[in-house]
Amino acid sequence: MTAIDSAIRAAAAQIELIGVTKAYDAKTVVIPPMDVVLRPGEFTVILGPSGCGKSTLLQMIAGLERVSGGKIILGGREVQDLEPKHRGCAMVFQNYALYPHMTVAENMAYSLKVAGVSKPDRALRVATVAKMLGLADYLERKPGQLSGGQRQRVAIGRAIIREPGVLLFDEPLSNLDAQLRHDMRIELADLHRRIGATSVFVTHDQVEAMTLADRILILNKGRVEQFDTPKVIYHHPASVFVAKFIGAPPMNILDVTGDGTALRLADGQAVARSTRTGRFQLGIRPEDVAAGPGGPITATIRYREDLGSHEIIEADLCGQQLRIATPFGAEIDASSTLSLSFPTVRLHLFDGETGMAIADAFEEPQAVRQSVKVHL
Ligand SMILES: Nc1ncnc2c1ncn2[C@@H]1O[C@H](COP(=O)(O)OP(=O)(O)OP(=O)(O)O)[C@@H](O)[C@H]1O
Ligand SMILES: [Mg+2]
Repeated sequence: MTAIDSAIRAAAAQIELIGVTKAYDAKTVVIPPMDVVLRPGEFTVILGPSGCGKSTLLQMIAGLERVSGGKIILGGREVQDLEPKHRGCAMVFQNYALYPHMTVAENMAYSLKVAGVSKPDRALRVATVAKMLGLADYLERKPGQLSGGQRQRVAIGRAIIREPGVLLFDEPLSNLDAQLRHDMRIELADLHRRIGATSVFVTHDQVEAMTLADRILILNKGRVEQFDTPKVIYHHPASVFVAKFIGAPPMNILDVTGDGTALRLADGQAVARSTRTGRFQLGIRPEDVAAGPGGPITATIRYREDLGSHEIIEADLCGQQLRIATPFGAEIDASSTLSLSFPTVRLHLFDGETGMAIADAFEEPQAVRQSVKVHL
């Protein structure tokens, strides 16, 4: 570790939410009681659609929003009734919220000044953080004289300068263009590795979630739908909601009926062997659909999108939408009919009513399972 790293390395705090709930009134329960533990130093990404309660959750941890019930334990201390400044958290917002009349250096040093840190110490910390974030040449500028990415870096600098044990980010990259988002993502991952604060990062961008997170917490109407590593979330989604939320294009979900021998579409066409009976939702990712001559499943091509590296085929399968991702150059007949097969090991089965995943729905002989694991 370099001198700079050790100079601002935080004592990462564990975050525990015990029955934490938020309701604006009896009808508006935004977060039903939630129990989660975020480990010290872990980078958690909270992912979910607009209005699912991501910001509310973050603001309750920061102390900007009161909990309606439950406890928040940060680094072993119960903090739900403490003022934000006593919680040891720092937050980075989407809209930066920098002071426009202050220079970059003053913006970053402000919280230290309020906390009574001496002027020489403030200058040292500003220099350290500015160097880390590539802002050393901009310290005397005002926010209005900076690009979006530079402003976002100042906002991050202002948060980490206090060496918080917990760093909270609310969609910090969403105002930036695609290239800058990508660059900032890499910077943030690197920064996290160096600072080590327990980080919670809110986004509805699944690429950010997949690339930054140690674990992703998927929120659906304030409930934890799944909380696991990106790999597990991608390969073993706990529900149809998660399956559809992760992956671009997302997983195909087909309504099927089991008759004891196969899972069938409405026209009787079998798409998978199974001894199950009843209604199910069958999931397969676009990249897992095998297209080619001889496949037992027949779909009709609606349109094709050539993305250069691969092609996305939008097809109709017995009145249901099916997307297929094929490698560039795959030999696909230009005709409008497509022969497909669904490799059993790539299938996901969900309950027809609840949408919850059915574990080990397609048990395979041990040898086959092991050979497939190598490719995951
Ligand atoms: N003061 C309030 N009174 C009543 N409901 C509120 C209030 N503030 C927020 N809400 C509701 O709480 C829910 C969660 O809001 P929140 O801002 O946490 O969502 P979010 O997941 O961050 O969404 P986004 O992705 O759009 O930022 C929303 O349905 C919102 O309408
Ligand atoms: Mg929000």
